[in-house]
Amino acid sequence: MSGMALGATLLATNSSPLFSDSRKKKRIVFLDDDDDDEDEEDRKERERQEAIANKPSLSTIYSLTDFESVAKKVLPEGIWGYYSTGSDDEISLRENHYAFSRIFFRPQCLIDSSSCSLDTEILGTKLSAPFYITAFAGSPSAHPIAERGLRNAAGLENIIHLIPFQLSFPVEEYCAGLKPGQQNFYQLHFYNEKQFDEAPEFFKKLESMPNIKAVFINVDLNALGNREKDSKIRARIDSGTTEALEVYAHSDVKYFSLTWDHMKQIQQMTKLPIVLKGVLNKNDVLKAAEAGLAGALISNHGGRQLDFAMPPIEILAESKQLLKEKGLDKNFELFIDGGIRRGSDIIKALCLGASGVGLGRPFLYSLASYGEEGVQKAIQILKTEMIRDMKLLGVSSISELNEDMVDITSLKYKGLQTRDHLYDQNYTPMPDPPFRKE
Ligand SMILES: Cc1cc2nc3c(=O)[nH]c(=O)nc-3n(C[C@H](O)[C@H](O)[C@H](O)COP(=O)(O)O)c2cc1C
Repeated sequence: MSGMALGATLLATNSSPLFSDSRKKKRIVFLDDDDDDEDEEDRKERERQEAIANKPSLSTIYSLTDFESVAKKVLPEGIWGYYSTGSDDEISLRENHYAFSRIFFRPQCLIDSSSCSLDTEILGTKLSAPFYITAFAGSPSAHPIAERGLRNAAGLENIIHLIPFQLSFPVEEYCAGLKPGQQNFYQLHFYNEKQFDEAPEFFKKLESMPNIKAVFINVDLNALGNREKDSKIRARIDSGTTEALEVYAHSDVKYFSLTWDHMKQIQQMTKLPIVLKGVLNKNDVLKAAEAGLAGALISNHGGRQLDFAMPPIEILAESKQLLKEKGLDKNFELFIDGGIRRGSDIIKALCLGASGVGLGRPFLYSLASYGEEGVQKAIQILKTEMIRDMKLLGVSSISELNEDMVDITSLKYKGLQTRDHLYDQNYTPMPDPPFRKE
């Protein structure tokens, strides 16, 4: 089965919309067993239904953190657990975000920035902003519109949606719904040798889709990270939520170990620009540039793979420096994702050399809370934040942003940052093992 078909087939079984929760059915059986008291799970479900009925209006959402706070209350607990989890002790998950708070700005004064624009070009594609909706599985569990909502909002706002390999419907259908002129990139990972053997055919298929301009290939999936919080939450609720997520979240999937040699073979198979997704070491960034690849996405998969992998923003800073030293920073683009929640985070990444900045969970949460409209509003919030901050920084265009505009003296000193109360307020701690009831 070709990679794309495999992705589509896996997902065909998962179409559970946000607000359906088969726990209810199970609990009706339980309540029939003469137990009139509302148990904890029933109480949580009742509160969730109340939250859905009384959801804040979209006009009262001011930041991406607001979407997260709404999503946490309206999503079934198991779906929230799957989205929000990191691996092991979630150190990388939290550091991804906190690393940004160790970078400060050095604004310039008395500069006319009244015509500030976010227009940019990424891998040859002209766009209205330098951030994009990154690839993630599981959108159908957020909202029935699934990835269509991400595609449409990205099209309306002229930004990239990195199409996930685990798309929940055929990629042909996805492309048929694109806005005129809308361009996208495609994320691909390999499960097994057979899929790799079929890759030449698969790339031909991608090349036949003129709106797909680049392919991001995962290099961070030799095994699935230990998403312990997610496992604990879903083991406890053991519900339809678990069934709905089985496709993405089961730990016994065998992944295929890609090597530099495979990458050489891939470069012979396609003319599409190839970007490595999940690079975590400046020396690998350099190797990718030397190998003639188009770019590297520095990412620890949103803290879901190797815990204690360094925060991407820190690796970005050292990688750009190394590429410059070797004279390889011109035809090689750097990307970053993980923990980005504000326009100012995006600006910091651009100052340190990124050409594209990805966000995952914030778009899942905006989709879960308000569908396509929510995703569009999230994009608009980021654009507004960026324009305001760039003006305050004294710049009018993306190309003016550079490393002299940020102070990164403290970047390496993990644990020294100011606490971010908005972030902490939504953070879900690891649950304890449940004691059996008497
Ligand atoms: C629920 C969820 C599912 C994801 N699924 C995939 C996937 O299928 N393929 C992939 O390359 N990355 C996947 N990612 C990782 C994202 O592409 C991205 O690296 C990460 O979300 C960035 O961190 P952020 O969520 O803090 O923005 C997933 C992330 C989340 C949260």
